[in-house]
Amino acid sequence: MTLLDTPLTRALGIEVPVICGAMFPCSNPELVAAVSDAGGIGIVQPLSLTFVHGYDFQDGLALIRRLTARPIGMNVLIEQSSRAYMDRMRRFVDQALEAGVRFFVTSLGNPRWVVDRVRDAGGIVYHDVTERKWAEKGIAGGVHGLIAVNNRAGGHAGGRSAEQLLEDLSGFGLPLVCAGGIGDAAGFVAALRMGYAGVQLGTRFIATDECRAAPEYKAAIVHAEEKDIVLTERVTGVPLSVIRTPYVDRVGTRTGRVARWMLRHRRTKHFMRTVYALRSAWALKRSLMDGGGSNDYWQAGKSVAGIDAVVPAGSIVRDFAAAARG
Ligand SMILES: Cc1cc2nc3c(=O)[nH]c(=O)nc-3n(C[C@H](O)[C@H](O)[C@H](O)COP(=O)(O)O)c2cc1C
Repeated sequence: MTLLDTPLTRALGIEVPVICGAMFPCSNPELVAAVSDAGGIGIVQPLSLTFVHGYDFQDGLALIRRLTARPIGMNVLIEQSSRAYMDRMRRFVDQALEAGVRFFVTSLGNPRWVVDRVRDAGGIVYHDVTERKWAEKGIAGGVHGLIAVNNRAGGHAGGRSAEQLLEDLSGFGLPLVCAGGIGDAAGFVAALRMGYAGVQLGTRFIATDECRAAPEYKAAIVHAEEKDIVLTERVTGVPLSVIRTPYVDRVGTRTGRVARWMLRHRRTKHFMRTVYALRSAWALKRSLMDGGGSNDYWQAGKSVAGIDAVVPAGSIVRDFAAAARG
């Protein structure tokens, strides 16, 4: 038995317990396929596939299937804000099942409907959580594993460290995946040694040949240090991890006072979240391809510290596996 033989690799039928996490707007078909093809598993972000990269959802999945026959996953962001969005998500899940997807990563909200929908097909659902109370909710919804998003993660970071989350969540007896702060093979091996069943990486996979982000965005990740990562509320209304640029310095990281009040108030918070979701979707789509970064946000987490070159995504998976084999 090696470090690579974990409940995650066994459940998904993959070789290396490395997940290329869903990334809006950075998940493009070539990136997802490259990670899966190398023995890890790439996660499709449906809105990134369709809205950012311009594919019809089924065509995008078919493209990935042409690039690799190995397992892929899909991210299901469960938001309460709009019925049209939820209907669309349900359709995406059904279409993913038809295309042979069996691994689903849910984020936010109650994952029960996803668990129920994929059960008959043998689907497996892991739920992103930042703390114990969300884990309890996910487990009540029937999920099969937890992705512990820690305080070093890209995207919407949590507030607890990888060690604290392991302690908080181990008692549930479900496989735990470490998300956040892993940029190199040493970090991967350390997470497995700690007791995690796998890792979920975002930032590391942006600085790859296959990711369609602007070269300047990738270079910013390669050159950034941990201290260059800041949390801003201005994109999505809740703290989002981005690289500190002159633009971020100029506009600050807090929302305006009215928006902050509306985001907290019971009657206005859903409306305000929808406003932010729509605005941020456009802003992040633009920033993916924008080389200037003059008035845009480049999302990244503290794993930038371990990232020193743009490389093929498959080589990351292979290097990690080699390090774990010792
Ligand atoms: C640019 C970017 C976009 C992300 N978008 C999503 C998303 O749409 N859905 C989601 O569940 N997680 C999202 N995440 C979180 C990642 O899936 C993953 O958990 C996180 O990046 C791990 O931390 P790391 O960046 O330090 O590796 C995003 C992360 C980044 C860096």
